[in-house]
Parts: sequence; C-alpha cells; structure tokens
Amino acid sequence: MAESFDLNQTDRLLTTTRAVRKRLDLNRPVPRELITDCIRIACQAPAGSNLQRWRWIVVDDPDLKMGLADLYRRAYEPYIAMQKDAVQRTGRSGANAIMDSSDYLATVLHQAPALVIPCSLGVPEGPQGSVAGFYGSVLPAVWSFMLAARSRGLGTAWTTLHLAFEAEARALLGIPDTVTQVALTPVAYYTGDTFKPGNRRPAEEITYFNGWKS
Ligand SMILES: Cc1cc2nc3c(=O)[nH]c(=O)nc-3n(C[C@H](O)[C@H](O)[C@H](O)COP(=O)(O)O)c2cc1C
Repeated sequence: MAESFDLNQTDRLLTTTRAVRKRLDLNRPVPRELITDCIRIACQAPAGSNLQRWRWIVVDDPDLKMGLADLYRRAYEPYIAMQKDAVQRTGRSGANAIMDSSDYLATVLHQAPALVIPCSLGVPEGPQGSVAGFYGSVLPAVWSFMLAARSRGLGTAWTTLHLAFEAEARALLGIPDTVTQVALTPVAYYTGDTFKPGNRRPAEEITYFNGWKS
C-alpha cells in the first residue's frame, strides 16, 4: 500500500505559509545549519534535466544586509508610491493591509537575521520555452525552501524589488554576471503561533477543463 500523508498537516503547511513581515522576530538569531537544512529540503524540487543550477546566497553579515536592504528601499519607495496611488483610485480591497505590512518590511529588512537570495546559473534568454525552463528550474525550489522554513518555525517573504538594482546587489555579493538572482527573502523565526489561509480566488472559478473558458 502506498504510504499516506497526514493531510491535515500537509494542507495546513501549504495553506498557511504566508508572506511574513510584521511577525518576523528580528531579535532571535537563526542558526546557519537550520537555513542549510531548509536548502537541503528545497533541493528536492524539480529542475529541468535535474541540472540543479540553483545556488543559494545566505547573507547574515550586518553590513551586507544593510547594503541589500538599502537597494530594496530604493526600489520600494517609487513602487509603493505608485501602488498607493492606484489603490486610492480603484479602492482594491485588502490592499491597505498588504501595503502597511510591506512598509514595515522595507523599514526593517536589514534587521532580519538572514536574507536569502536564490540564484540560478545562467541568464534567461531565447524563446518562451527557454525562459519558462529557466525560471521553472529554480522557483519551485524557492517555494519549497519557504515551506521547509515555515515547518521549522521560520517566516519568509518572497520579494523581488531589489532586482531593480540587480547589478548593485551582484557587485555587493560578488555574484558573477553569468548568474541570475531570482528573489530575496528575509528569514527569521516568526512570532505568534500559527497563520490562517490567505485570501484566494475559488479554484472552481479559475479551473477550466478541456480548454480555455472565456
Ligand atoms: C514574484 C513575487 C514577488 C513579490 N515581491 C514582493 C516584494 O518585493 N515585497 C513584498 O513585501 N512582498 C512581495 N511579494 C509577496 C506578495 O505580496 C505575497 O505573496 C502576496 O501578497 C500573498 O501574500 P500571502 O501569501 O501572505 O497571502 C512577492 C510575491 C511574489 C510571488
């Protein structure tokens, strides 16, 4: 008989792994080994031809974290100004809470015990299939990293804004220009006990059987 999973546990992990911003414990150190454990698990994710061209940069040096956070903030300010303007015009529900917690993250990013930048060897180029293959061979591992972190009491938040200054981040960390950074996540223990499922569209509404439904 096939081994079974405890669906309560697996579904809870999958439905309650949130973007953690205000609940990052900025004062509790995170052991490097724990982050390496999460990376070990993450590397079970699929990758095209199993090439595993992912690399993980864990930044826990205060000056480097400050350098990265400054880049993030440089990109964040014009981005959030635009978002706030759009929300004021359209009144998108739930947006204020996200912007409030995003403001907080931008302010404290350098204080997270670690910032993790997943990278992939190579640069995405060529037809859509190649680009899909490039990102599809690293982003599943990033999400697995976040799930592994969450199940160890660690919070993460997927961010990409620092990539507006990707070259500066590359210079800061000595990343070769043949390597692509794909995200940046703070890693910290989270405060509080648990998280609730997020606000998502009903699966029935976005699932089309046997072809596109217009
Ligand atoms: C590709 C991508 C880029 C994102 N970039 C940022 C970012 O730069 N800053 C940030 O605070 N959150 C960022 N997020 C987090 C999203 O805001 C978050 O996943 C979304 O609001 C859902 O949050 P929830 O899972 O907690 O419900 C990003 C998420 C993804 C998938």
